[in-house]
Amino acid sequence: MPITIRRATIDDMLCMQNANLHNLPENYLFKYYMYHILSWPEASFVATTTDDVGVDQLEELASGAANASSQCKCDPCYVRPGEKLVGYVLAKMNDDPAAAQSSDALNGHITSLSVMRTYRRMGLAEKLMRQALFALSEVYKANFVSLHVRNSNRAALHLYRDTLEFEVLNVEKSYYLDGEDAYAMKKILDTQQLLPANFQRGSIQDDLESDLLEPNTESSLQEGIQKITV
Ligand code: ACO
Repeated sequence: MPITIRRATIDDMLCMQNANLHNLPENYLFKYYMYHILSWPEASFVATTTDDVGVDQLEELASGAANASSQCKCDPCYVRPGEKLVGYVLAKMNDDPAAAQSSDALNGHITSLSVMRTYRRMGLAEKLMRQALFALSEVYKANFVSLHVRNSNRAALHLYRDTLEFEVLNVEKSYYLDGEDAYAMKKILDTQQLLPANFQRGSIQDDLESDLLEPNTESSLQEGIQKITV
């Protein structure tokens, strides 16, 4: 099941909002997604797949067949024909004018993160978060990143506290509209530590030592030439 993690663009906004409505009770106006992307275009990321698309359909899409888009144009999970959004992280820099004068102004914030139910426990949220943290640090020079999470959200709490090593700053009473408390969390960012290469599990190393080409003898060359049909 190939999944791509890439930077979010304006074309992804509707699907991100759709995923947010599916997965979380904290929802935002469409213009708030646009505000994120227009103000900090390199901070948010999406996970997408071509999973549900058969080979025939992909070929049809590649050839630009007129009816190709009709198969998924009404499904708000599809960013474009053949590409389905399965997760996102919406991130920003601190835009509080009161903090603008202090060094706190250089802090990032995770507004929202979610992964569609059938794609959970595959490491997608961790990867999305690591990309966003790296971008906030490298591109926007954020010194730290903050977020809020519901006290009852076990999965997200594990992800932030245990996997990504956020610290719990305090409990904000009745932070959410329904009265639930939130953990306010923070992580100091260090660009070198956050380099995506540091977190690639089981990556294949390039073999630069051995020559992987077949020995180029005259007979193998002749054989190759004979196989060429014009
Ligand atoms: N129970 C316990 N720990 C969990 C669980 C779970 N169900 N799911 C994830 N984790 C933790 C684990 O520590 C895991 O590490 P491990 O696999 O090494 O044990 C770590 O998170 C990474 O897991 P991922 O597979 O990357 O997480 P996933 O892609 O499943 O997404 C998420 C986790 C985003 C919390 C998902 O469950 C989800 O979308 N939930 C609904 C929306 C939500 O709660 N979003 C966060 C709100 S807070 C905010 O937006 C700022």
